Amino acid sequence: MKEIYVGLIGFGTVGTGVVKLLQNSSQLLEKQLGARLVLKKIADLDITTSRGISVEEGILTKDAADILNDPEISIVMELIGGYEPARSFILEAMRKKKHVVTANKALLATHGNEIFETAAKEEVDIGFEASVGGTIPVIKTLKESLVANRIKSIFGIMNGTSNFILTKMTDEGESFDVVLKEAQDLGFAEADPTFDIEGIDTAHKLAITLALSYGKRVNLDDIYMEGISKITPEDIEFARELGYRIKLLAIAIQREDSIEARIHPTMIPFDHLLSNVNGNFNAFHIVGDAADSVFLYGQGAGMMPTASAVVGDLVDISRDILKGISRRVPLRSRREDIIEDIKLMPMDDIVTNYYLRFSALDRPGVLSRISGVLGNNNISISSVIQKGRTHDAHGAVPIVMTTHESREKDVRKALKEMDTLDIVRGKTMVIRIEDDKLK
Ligand code: HSE
Repeated sequence: MKEIYVGLIGFGTVGTGVVKLLQNSSQLLEKQLGARLVLKKIADLDITTSRGISVEEGILTKDAADILNDPEISIVMELIGGYEPARSFILEAMRKKKHVVTANKALLATHGNEIFETAAKEEVDIGFEASVGGTIPVIKTLKESLVANRIKSIFGIMNGTSNFILTKMTDEGESFDVVLKEAQDLGFAEADPTFDIEGIDTAHKLAITLALSYGKRVNLDDIYMEGISKITPEDIEFARELGYRIKLLAIAIQREDSIEARIHPTMIPFDHLLSNVNGNFNAFHIVGDAADSVFLYGQGAGMMPTASAVVGDLVDISRDILKGISRRVPLRSRREDIIEDIKLMPMDDIVTNYYLRFSALDRPGVLSRISGVLGNNNISISSVIQKGRTHDAHGAVPIVMTTHESREKDVRKALKEMDTLDIVRGKTMVIRIEDDKLK
């Protein structure tokens, strides 16, 4: 039987999962591929700590060059994460005419152009299914299954940590800080959770998703991003009362001559499938002009689910190698020579519904002054809730308003004016609502 030699750089959680999967599924993989995948070397700075699996004598090395310089190895898996030395290893592997498989979303979102262009120049492939949505085959869906569609929209829950925190806040009424601490104690959240909770990890994944959906280069800095750390149990409770759940959504919508791309906590109706994606699960609701709605759901992280995506890429590339071809599927959906820059819609121009929670004094005329500012800025109110008379430290009560479709620029201007009113205390909470666009 033919053998295809592969090397693994990074023997962490996902790397260990890949080794386990290659060992446990070797017979199944041989049947799928008609060849044997041979893991020839594993490089990691730590080759002494037990990973709970046994590997063949002599395959562990501390030096990634042992993989990069091995002419027999045709596919290199980069599973160390981060920017450097991951970037250099990938580029070096490609220059040595090796195909690459990576789960590194941060690297692809920031250095993707250099990496994809190098792959094209060196005529090698790069598999990155594990970089977005973990085990969920969203890359393959966009690059292959939906190839005949213009992608009208994508609404995604792309970060398991944030979804886990929001789910627990919703189910248990706890504050963000308490749930974050619990998630860290349970090992679900990183010691430094910034990437996950502030939307940065989601932005990396959305940038990759956009490139594949529209065959274009994306500037990560142009994507509007807002995390979940300011969400309070009070907002979750008001959302429930209004018929919504709050999720950290990544949104991409095809507009006339630009793409709307944004990440922020979003209220979505109870009865939408995305509302029921709970815990650390991820999901993607993709709408194609021919396919209509496609919904993908699964584990966005974790040892074996992520390993499943990595090994899937290994098999895809190996199938091409066996046929004597490479890059049967273009790296970023479209032909690499026609990739152009994506035009993202400025955040000021987006139009959506808003939830606004004011902290205002409870006295006659307050509502009319607030609604006056909104009205003067073209913002039409859809509903108002004022409950009880529980005064906060500023002697204020929460007043919640939802709006009809309004322009972001108008909302920002109105809130600036609102903050100067003597009857409004503290900053107004803004959460965007997506309702009709999800239907
Ligand atoms: N930290 C990510 C999450 C998984 O919480 O979903 C890896 O991208």
